[in-house]
Amino acid sequence: MSILGIDIGGSGIKGALVNTETGEMVTDRLRIPTPQPATPQAVIKTIKEIIKYFDYSGPLGLGIPSVVLDGIVMSAANIDDGWIGFPGQKAIAEATGLKATLLNDADVAAIAEMRFGAGRGHLETAMIFTLGTGIGSAMFVNGRLVPNLELGHIFMRNRKKDAEAYASDRIRKEKALSWQEWGGRLNAYFQYIEALFSPQLIIIGGGVSKKHEKFLKYIDVRAKVVPAQFLNQAGIVGAALAAERPDLNGG
Ligand code: BGC
Repeated sequence: MSILGIDIGGSGIKGALVNTETGEMVTDRLRIPTPQPATPQAVIKTIKEIIKYFDYSGPLGLGIPSVVLDGIVMSAANIDDGWIGFPGQKAIAEATGLKATLLNDADVAAIAEMRFGAGRGHLETAMIFTLGTGIGSAMFVNGRLVPNLELGHIFMRNRKKDAEAYASDRIRKEKALSWQEWGGRLNAYFQYIEALFSPQLIIIGGGVSKKHEKFLKYIDVRAKVVPAQFLNQAGIVGAALAAERPDLNGG
């Protein structure tokens, strides 16, 4: 079945049709810059443009950089605060006339990687981190998603800012950190994560994962650390998969 997956990000809103039996994108990706401020109304307008572009009707899957409980958006780190408490899933369904499934963006990326990508067949504890504007995090235990982990916002020992303000890809760019400097920050972060959760597998996603040769070598943890197979497309693919079987995904 071909389902439209949409990844709502801090800088771009991206969509494509996905074959949910194979996890492959069956169209090119359409990317529209995220409206600023990224209020619910403005973002829903962009979602409607994407649907129109693909002339789509059918179930719709979406990932958003927020905690989402029963379709209600509970946080807004890199989008407008107007999302907090907003019934996003219901509002998108009403505005589009489509059955919508709205989940956290890292959760949907993890769904794609666990089903068709780097975590395929892995049945122990796997964690996925998307490194971008923020740090997205997700965990699968015995094939089940533990939804809405917010490990980009933990405070590491002796630091006044959260992990996202220390080790996201945005910080690497803003502070013009070398790969080694940033790799050292990521290493400190993943060692802390390992001390808390002891995953057997860590999958690194987000746009920067395509440059994994430059920084994975600085990460020294017990867990196996691998790049995401879907790289930055995991959000779109996973959103489509979640729309097909919302029951399987903790959503
Ligand atoms: C948000 C998360 C999101 C991550 C990646 C964080 O700032 O709090 O919900 O998954 O960014 O977009």
